[in-house]
Amino acid sequence: MHNNIDDLIDIEKKAIQSIDQATDTETLEQLSTRYLGRKGVLTAFLRNISALPEEDRPNAGKNANILKGKLEAAFKSAFSKVDRLNDADSSGIDVTLPGRSVKRGNNHPVTQVTDEICDIFLRLGFDIAEGPEVETDYYNFEALNFPKHHPARDMQDTFFVSENIVLRTHTSPSQPRVMEKTEPPIRIISPGKVFRCDSDVTHTPMFNQVEGLMVDENISFGDLKGILTTFIHQFFDKETSLRFRPSFFPFTEPSAEVDIRCVMCRGKGCRICSKTGWLEILGSGMVHPAVFENVDYDTDKFTGFAFGMGIERLAMLKYGIDDLRKFFENDVRFLGQF
Ligand code: PHE
Repeated sequence: MHNNIDDLIDIEKKAIQSIDQATDTETLEQLSTRYLGRKGVLTAFLRNISALPEEDRPNAGKNANILKGKLEAAFKSAFSKVDRLNDADSSGIDVTLPGRSVKRGNNHPVTQVTDEICDIFLRLGFDIAEGPEVETDYYNFEALNFPKHHPARDMQDTFFVSENIVLRTHTSPSQPRVMEKTEPPIRIISPGKVFRCDSDVTHTPMFNQVEGLMVDENISFGDLKGILTTFIHQFFDKETSLRFRPSFFPFTEPSAEVDIRCVMCRGKGCRICSKTGWLEILGSGMVHPAVFENVDYDTDKFTGFAFGMGIERLAMLKYGIDDLRKFFENDVRFLGQF
């Protein structure tokens, strides 16, 4: 039986020591019952005070109550310390788990197809020449033989920045820009963004084109056909045939639009080719003499051809993508497939 002051000191020492060593709530609860519970050590001590000599009783009672307060405080702080430890353990840090793999990004499908197109033309001896997206009316229209107020300007719904500055509506301004600075022979392609005030299922206000230009002595329509056929055979496959249809562009004469055999149905007729068996993929033609004159080329000496095609359209056909807008929604589940 505990019944004197020395016993109290002993209880305090042992209790504090065990509380300090406890690392979990369960142990602390057991200790709390052992020291402060109804049948605990301290209660027993208080109950036995009556057995002490009368003069010792007040002191013993006082000291026992002081110790009770001390232990209660010690338990309180021990419980909260253990809680904090437990919180850290349940924070999800398990060093034995395998690490999370970091997803690798990939180029946007439009970038990939642009690179692929450029690679094919680079192998054919073409260089790359990029031009500005914010363009002067002069290069976008005037130099390409679109006089002011010419109805052909309506073919392109232009975004105007100011009266003489536009967002380029095609990559064709690269033609006069390159020719102004270089003498023939010229063999360049020019990929980049173009802008038209147009937006529906098959049109977005911004899309990408690749321009091609070849100028030298004795360049003929046959060269145009040869280069484009080689390109299409490499980009799609050798089974893909081409068809040249007469067309009009102010900066080429004669002009032709080029169709390829539908890559989906191989010409049988399907939804993609609107049952025609053919897909229009580019505009082209022999460089108009008026364009040569604008860049001071000798029209008796030089001839050339130019072509321009939409990159998203080629990407859609190559990968069987049915909605142009998917390219611009930036849904990584779509973009990650390429
Ligand atoms: N620039 C024309 C277009 O955007 C395409 C084209 C380029 C036509 C070069 C002929 C020669 O429609």
